[in-house]
Amino acid sequence: ESKMISFFCSTLTFFHEGEGGPPAGVTPVEPRAEFGTRGSRDECKNCSAAKPEGAGMSGGGDFGNGDAPPAPVTYVPPEEPTGETEIFKLTHEGINFDKYDKIPVKVTGRAPPDPITSFDEAQLTETFRRNVQRSGYNKPTPIQKYAIPAVRQGRDIMACAQTGSGKTAAFLLPVIAGIMEENRPASEYDSVQEPSAVIIAPTRELAVQIDREAKKLIHGSILKSVVIYGGVSVAHHASQVARGCNILVATPGRLKGFIEMGKISLKKAKFLVLDEADRMLEEGFEAEVRRAASMMPPNTLRQTLLFSATFPTEVQDLARTLLNEDYLFITVGELGAGNADVTHLIFNVPHTEKIGKLKELFSSRIDTSRQKSIVFVEMKKRCDFLAVQLCQAGYQSTSIHGDREQREREEALRQFKSGQCNILVATAVAARGLDIPKVMFVVNFDMPKTIEEFTHRCGRTGRVGFKGDAITLLDPTNDYEIMRSLVKNLHSTNQDVPEWLESEAGDATGTIAVAGDRGNVDIRENGGGGFGAGRYGAGFGGGAGFGGGDGGGGGGGGWNDGDSGWNSPGASNW
Ligand SMILES: Nc1ncnc2c1ncn2[C@@H]1O[C@H](COP(=O)(O)OP(=O)(O)OP(=O)(O)O)[C@@H](O)[C@H]1O
Ligand SMILES: [Mg+2]
Repeated sequence: ESKMISFFCSTLTFFHEGEGGPPAGVTPVEPRAEFGTRGSRDECKNCSAAKPEGAGMSGGGDFGNGDAPPAPVTYVPPEEPTGETEIFKLTHEGINFDKYDKIPVKVTGRAPPDPITSFDEAQLTETFRRNVQRSGYNKPTPIQKYAIPAVRQGRDIMACAQTGSGKTAAFLLPVIAGIMEENRPASEYDSVQEPSAVIIAPTRELAVQIDREAKKLIHGSILKSVVIYGGVSVAHHASQVARGCNILVATPGRLKGFIEMGKISLKKAKFLVLDEADRMLEEGFEAEVRRAASMMPPNTLRQTLLFSATFPTEVQDLARTLLNEDYLFITVGELGAGNADVTHLIFNVPHTEKIGKLKELFSSRIDTSRQKSIVFVEMKKRCDFLAVQLCQAGYQSTSIHGDREQREREEALRQFKSGQCNILVATAVAARGLDIPKVMFVVNFDMPKTIEEFTHRCGRTGRVGFKGDAITLLDPTNDYEIMRSLVKNLHSTNQDVPEWLESEAGDATGTIAVAGDRGNVDIRENGGGGFGAGRYGAGFGGGAGFGGGDGGGGGGGGWNDGDSGWNSPGASNW
């Protein structure tokens, strides 16, 4: 299976490397056939996730699935640039950046500190302040205004702010400031490194991105940030860690492996940050996160910071035990609502006609020679299939999903960022957190299973005040369970909702999950709990049994079950 997958992936790469699309006359690869069937999958009785590269530490974490000894992962990512001009690629704000200030912010919890209005008030050291300036951050975004002083004051926070509004710096800045004060240099070549801050993220590429941002902000200081994640040579990560590690950014599986190997101890960790916190507390990640937290000082002696653009009520409930009782809950805008800089367009398209519709969009509405689009699909198999089809139609495309090798995943992102391929076909693995400049369009080829996932996907465009379009191909027959929450979500940002959708959604039964009904407030305000049932009721079977998230499970990663269609009743129809 693994050979077939790599064969297919290299075929895909071959298409991309050619100029102007695939060579004439190349027969499309049929990913379904190549990837094997349920039957071949069933040969591996013990594992719950596809692991093309093997599992265990070599692949990024052993989740006790009882797999045969894995082939060691040898991939070493290209070195990150260290020159100042490459580190500080100037970011720009979009025209709506200043409108962020108009979004109402709500803080609940005891005695919140006043927000800062400028970075000068953030009590940053000189070097650090200069790095903020060189990053092109002139004034703090709303979440930064509120979260920075709260964290500086020693509070735990649960913070929710729209996609693309600077949550990363909102946790990195105060954490780094706190570590600088601690003045505990990481000693080089200590056999056990004891980071002061641990940041956990659900996907590898997101972990890499957070580490990059951290390295930018600590540039020129004595602090060191290291990232560890699945799919990369363990020896490589071990040597990075050994050089000193004040800030550790990790996916859960690799973190667990490093703790078990005795390379990392969390005993001195003063900060625990969960980015995409609601995702980190879902099945498959929660146990790992709690285990890591249990190895840190207790929640009264550390600070725990949870960030996301969505915080469903039941996740807040799960999160509370990680936090100090006295935490602050910060929401910018309506909790879990979409981003008003994204304009939505919803088409009613039966799934058999979706490829045709997509090509039509690429030939009429979207200028693929200049504009970047991310096309989201539910399943990995469809992901490659679609990418190949688009390549064949002459659209330079690449793909990212949990069955691609890490080398290929990173290469795909590089090609997309550089504009070599302006179309990235992706599964949920790229839905959260990724900050790729100039993505003009998000296309939901398949509708996701939850409205939160929809919010995150659409948030890959319309960032830092730029505008973007999200185009959703909705098939009412398949998507009826999410239609009501979708309509509500669209109303929350004053979108035009097509009449057919209003009417179909009105008729839709079985819709339980409506964002506004279960995630709008600090749960402490409504008596702590009492949320409705069934977040996972609809089609979430795919998420169950996650083999340990993106950091674990060998080359595959945590989205395996979610979109493989092997173990997931929700997805196997595709
Ligand atoms: N104060 C600021 N001024 C200008 N740009 C900023 C500022 N803060 C952050 N940015 C930039 O905004 C972009 C989006 O930030 P970030 O990725 O942290 O968003 P996010 O809120 O975490 O989004 P998501 O929910 O998708 O993870 C980044 O390119 C970042 O460099
Ligand atoms: Mg983020």
